[in-house]
Amino acid sequence: MAKSRVQFICQNCGSVHQRWAGKCDACGEWNTLVEEGTSGGIGSGPANTRNARKGRAVVLTSLSGDIEDAPRIVSGIGELDRATGGGFVRGSALLVGGDPGIGKSTLLTQAAAALASRGHRIVYVSGEEAVAQIRLRAQRLGVASTPVELAAETNVEDILATIADGKRPDLVILDSIQTLWTDLADSAPGTVTQVRAAAQAMIRYAKSTGAAIVLVGHVTKEGQIAGPRVVEHMVDGVLYFEGEGGHHYRILRTVKNRFGPTDEIGVFEMSDKGLREVANPSELFLGERHAKSPGAAVFAGMEGTRPVLVEIQALVAPSSLGTPRRAVVGWDGARLSMVLAVLEAHCGVRFGQHDVYLNVAGGYRISEPAADLAVAAALVSSLTGLALPADCVYFGEISLSGAVRPVAHAQQRLKEAEKLGFGSAVLPLGSEELVGGNGAGGIGAGAFQPTELADLVARIAGSRRNRAEEQE
Ligand code: TYD
Ligand code: MG
Repeated sequence: MAKSRVQFICQNCGSVHQRWAGKCDACGEWNTLVEEGTSGGIGSGPANTRNARKGRAVVLTSLSGDIEDAPRIVSGIGELDRATGGGFVRGSALLVGGDPGIGKSTLLTQAAAALASRGHRIVYVSGEEAVAQIRLRAQRLGVASTPVELAAETNVEDILATIADGKRPDLVILDSIQTLWTDLADSAPGTVTQVRAAAQAMIRYAKSTGAAIVLVGHVTKEGQIAGPRVVEHMVDGVLYFEGEGGHHYRILRTVKNRFGPTDEIGVFEMSDKGLREVANPSELFLGERHAKSPGAAVFAGMEGTRPVLVEIQALVAPSSLGTPRRAVVGWDGARLSMVLAVLEAHCGVRFGQHDVYLNVAGGYRISEPAADLAVAAALVSSLTGLALPADCVYFGEISLSGAVRPVAHAQQRLKEAEKLGFGSAVLPLGSEELVGGNGAGGIGAGAFQPTELADLVARIAGSRRNRAEEQE
């Protein structure tokens, strides 16, 4: 008789260990190994190799051939459809991750209601909240009368039996994956084995019936329960719902999408009646601007196909510490160190005795290297105490040699800036064929295009002289 083996599975990365240890070798996290039985468990593979059946030959085919466009269910919530790449894809599984309390259930309730009122069959299964709680939320959102079918259930087999009744649903929402459990695995709900097995069963259901499914997953701290990371590779799409504490708006970011682009965002604002779409994010992020103060520069960024203008704020203050502080919110800390090093090495700007704080306004997060130039401008402006022109936008990448390098979509960035009333721009030289075009109009024509970062530093520092001359 085969002995049922005991294994220890890391709740953070899902790697399997034979012995317990304080630290997972694979991902380096502490205290994440949990004992999970493997008798008949999923993920351990077939235990009995003697009974293994012979493989069946499948037909090999070529890369070319007819492809059908993925059939989609459009929710009508523009920002959500943008993030999913044009709607939920039939027969696919989508993971929506995010911190607890960020608004995942709210978003999906609104999506469910919008779809149901368009005549789709939508099933909302909640393992976290009682039916009464979900009804309360629906009332608050003003969608209580829509024909969404609701259940509070956590067992996968029961859920599958329930939705097999009647017409096949167009969309099944499972809130959340961490509460689901299946009879096939014998570990506790929330462990890696259960989360994987439950997700697998639901994904199999989606692929075999053509229903779309949405799995909600909490991003967890300290590996208390298995995070959505362990199902990321199993699903067709991953969306993260993000937001900064104290700010009302939320960003739905596409991390993975087998049927569409992965660099899109949807922007929402949380109100007392649910999530509201924000069609023009630039206005939101620039809303609280104090244009005249030193250390602020407006970055013309891109999120997927959409330009987003956002203010970058720097504070450079004399330090009393041996090792000055560098703190960044909303940008990459390593990238800041690089920009500081280039400013020191190639432009003669010294930050060695100064603390440097960098903040992206409104709690927005930038991932583009194109923000380098705006960051450098904000840093120099704060150090010198000279405010940058209020109507100017900045974008461009800085190389380690101190050169300013061109970035993509210059035209679109300039257009957005112009639309929002900006009159000048600082951008890399290589983008001129775009700028020269009449599409960009006035703002492109009067743009300053440095080839070296030192040129920009000289221009900012030179503004003091100009101002002094004007006053004379
Ligand atoms: P919820 O969708 O329950 O979060 P999650 O499912 O991601 O855990 O949203 C919870 C928060 O949203 C809660 O703090 C209350 C707030 N909220 C509003 O501000 N307005 C609303 O209309 C709703 C429904 C929730
Ligand atoms: Mg919830």
